[in-house]
This record gives sequence, structure tokens and C-alpha cells, in this order.
Amino acid sequence: MRGKFITFEGIDGAGKSTHIDWVAARLRARAGIPAVVTTREPGGTPLGEDLRQLLLHRTMHLETEALLMFAARREHIAEVIDPALARGEWVISDRFTDATFAYQGGGRGLPTQRLEVLEDWVQAGLQPDLTLLFDVPLETASERLAGARAPDKFEAESRAFFQRTRDEYLRRAAAAPGRFRVIDATRSIDAIREELEQIIATL
Ligand code: TMP
Repeated sequence: MRGKFITFEGIDGAGKSTHIDWVAARLRARAGIPAVVTTREPGGTPLGEDLRQLLLHRTMHLETEALLMFAARREHIAEVIDPALARGEWVISDRFTDATFAYQGGGRGLPTQRLEVLEDWVQAGLQPDLTLLFDVPLETASERLAGARAPDKFEAESRAFFQRTRDEYLRRAAAAPGRFRVIDATRSIDAIREELEQIIATL
């Protein structure tokens, strides 16, 4: 049986990464799942990690940025995601295509239709079974980012950029309620874990 594909999303500073290893450990403790692979975008393959360095640190045309995101994704699907799902393993990815719609579409204003063409091409119907959207107001996100390592290209973006990015995430979640679960990530780690436990129990 094909494995399940779970993605974690949210604006920078929402705190999603804290929860990925925990969810993976909970699933690994469950009988019947041969393996749980954790991965990330942009990245997840040697080529994808090279592209990540360019994407996070080099200034480029916004369409170049979107194309490189999808180029890294093509490699990621071919080398990691599809083979693992075909083996019956579960895959958890720290970001996937919703991030491109939110950041390059919402944040940077690239028309959604352009991104949909690339999505069809690169994913050929592949969609996450579950997307956990970690949602926080901008104030909370910037407080969490303050004092962390030096900001990358995206983390250094304006408040208005992150507002548009968050709005687009929430819009997509409302449009696909069967796939998305919106997590109020302003709460304590324990409260969020409790909710995550209930959500993954339904998978
Ligand atoms: P991370 O810090 O959560 O690993 O994500 C890297 C950055 O890349 C983050 O600021 C969001 C951004 N990003 C996009 O702009 N578009 C995408 O498609 C992906 C996957 C990430």
C-alpha cells in the first residue's frame, strides 16, 4: 500500500519545525508503517540543497525563483518522495508547493495561473494527504525570529510581504478544507502536541 504524504507549512517564525520530529517519532512508534522519512523544501536532495543555497541567499527575478523552487521539487519528488511512498513509507516534508503559492504567489505577487502550470507539470497529480498549517499573527512570528541566526533572503522581507504570505496560506486552507488543518501556533508546545496527536490518529 502506498504511504502517506504529510506537509508542514507556515510563515517564517510560526514554529512548525519544532513539531516535525515529534510527529515523525509518534508515527514511527505506530505499528504498520514501514518507515517515516522526514525531508524539506527547498532541498531534500543533494541538488535541491544546492538550489536552496541559491534561493535563500541570491537575489533573482521572481520567475527564476519560482522556476528554481519547482526544479528542486521535481528532483525531490523523483528521488525521494515518490520512491518512498511507493515502498509504503510515509513522508513528512517541511514545506511543499503551498509555500510557493504563499511566498512567490501571495508574497511576491506572481500570478497563480503560472504556478498552477508548473504544479501540474512537476507533480503530475501528486498532492499531500494532509497539510498542517501553523498559523500565527505577524507579531508572534517576528518575535520568534528576533535574536535567531542572521535572517536569510525571505526572513528579511517586509511585514507586508509576510501579511500577504499568511493571507494566501489561509486562503488556500479555506479552499481545501479536506487536506488542510490550521493549527493555532500561538499556543504552548504541549497544547499543540495534543491537537497534533488527535489529527494524526485519524490518518
Ligand atoms: P525554511 O526556513 O522553512 O526551511 O524555508 C526556507 C524559505 O524558503 C522560507 O522563507 C520559505 C521559502 N520558500 C519559498 O519562498 N517558496 C517555496 O516554494 C518554499 C518551499 C520555500
